[in-house]
Amino acid sequence: MPKLWTGVTAGITDPIADDFNSSIRFDSRMYRQDIEGSMAHAAMLAARGIISDSERDALTGGLAGILEDLESGALQPDMRCEDIHMFVEQELTGRIGETGKKLHTARSRNDQVALDLRMYLRGECAEICALTKALVTALTDVAERHKASIMPGYTHLQRAQPVSFGHYLMAYAMMLLRDLDRLADCRKRMNVSPIGCCALAGTTYDTDRRMEASLLGFDEIARNSMDGVSDRDFAVELLSALSIEMMHLSRLAEELILWASWEFKFIELSDAYTTGSSIMPQKRNADMAELVRGKTGRVYGDLLGLLTTLKGLPLAYNKDMQEDKEGVFDACYTVKACLRVFAPMIASMRVRTDNMLRAAQTGFINATDLADYLVRKGLPFRSAYKLSGQIVARCMADGQVLESLPLEVYREYSPLFGEDLYAAIDLKACVEKRISEGGTSESSVEKQIAWVRMVLEHD
Ligand code: ARG
Repeated sequence: MPKLWTGVTAGITDPIADDFNSSIRFDSRMYRQDIEGSMAHAAMLAARGIISDSERDALTGGLAGILEDLESGALQPDMRCEDIHMFVEQELTGRIGETGKKLHTARSRNDQVALDLRMYLRGECAEICALTKALVTALTDVAERHKASIMPGYTHLQRAQPVSFGHYLMAYAMMLLRDLDRLADCRKRMNVSPIGCCALAGTTYDTDRRMEASLLGFDEIARNSMDGVSDRDFAVELLSALSIEMMHLSRLAEELILWASWEFKFIELSDAYTTGSSIMPQKRNADMAELVRGKTGRVYGDLLGLLTTLKGLPLAYNKDMQEDKEGVFDACYTVKACLRVFAPMIASMRVRTDNMLRAAQTGFINATDLADYLVRKGLPFRSAYKLSGQIVARCMADGQVLESLPLEVYREYSPLFGEDLYAAIDLKACVEKRISEGGTSESSVEKQIAWVRMVLEHD
């Protein structure tokens, strides 16, 4: 295929080199952004008198036709082209003739590809935000139903203190809100237009970069042309925000896998999100959650891949930068797929509050409350802690729980113990007393839920 860039070279490359050099396999998905960018470019060239209005109309009409045909499937990107930019330009000239060749005035593929990628990722970012919000909503809805369902909270995976399941889930809602915040922040720097930076140095034509930027919905323009064509920070930032989000999803996935096991049985995932085994008929595997956990590695890999590609690149554009796309596309696709399966899986899971409560009733998770009781009676915390430890050890030896130990026994340890002790170590009371802001009491969980819903609404 003859090359549009046949300048001083013969333009006849080895087919193996052509194939190696080409990016159309993975950049053809940016056809819409490429065409929209070109339409804005034609409008700007005409506004500045660089091309005539009728040339602009011919270019815009031709581009609109290509877009329509690509969307309807009547036209397929030609895989023999080097990239989507070359394909669109070649198709345009094929359709409208010589005028098509004017489109690339005051532009280079270097600023064009940077523009297309920013526009494409802007769209991906918006989709990921919408899916993340849907997951936050699913978590918040389940949390609302379980704002008073008691379960053991853990540290070191050892039963620690009672919490509500609602409180537990809201912790994940908070993480995901931070993810939304990070995505919004990264979009700010993504939404800066590189178009008009041209190959690297700007252009001799009297262009209007701001006009082009505003036609395409950008808030700002790159202030240095060399930076404009070689900056891929926005992709790195997106990948890091997505890596952090995947880390959150992976932690939740791990919890779901544990909770769905026979050892916990705190939840049952619905059949729609559970797989069986080809040999063991009793199996209910949490494959979706395991895959989310597994795919986290691939998103981290995409981040590390791009950082490594960019490291050591001199200014400005280098062909290495063509390697920026597959990883970031893969990460977006992966995160979207994970979010799509996660939200309905959470919404449809059955919560076994009976098993959660049973687990909370053993493990002495009210031992801190026993110590707090003594503190309220006047004992310094360290002494109360020690005494409570001795009582727990006694219960362990006798096969008792704190609630079943008779008052006489308590009084052997301290005369401060009275009948009101049992109300103080009641699990429900232990949860309800934790009224500090952000604590696990029902009223505090309600506040968290209201806050999250408010943030989602105003976002
Ligand atoms: N396909 C290239 C990429 O994705 C487009 C830019 C090519 N520029 C160039 N000077 N070869 O990066």
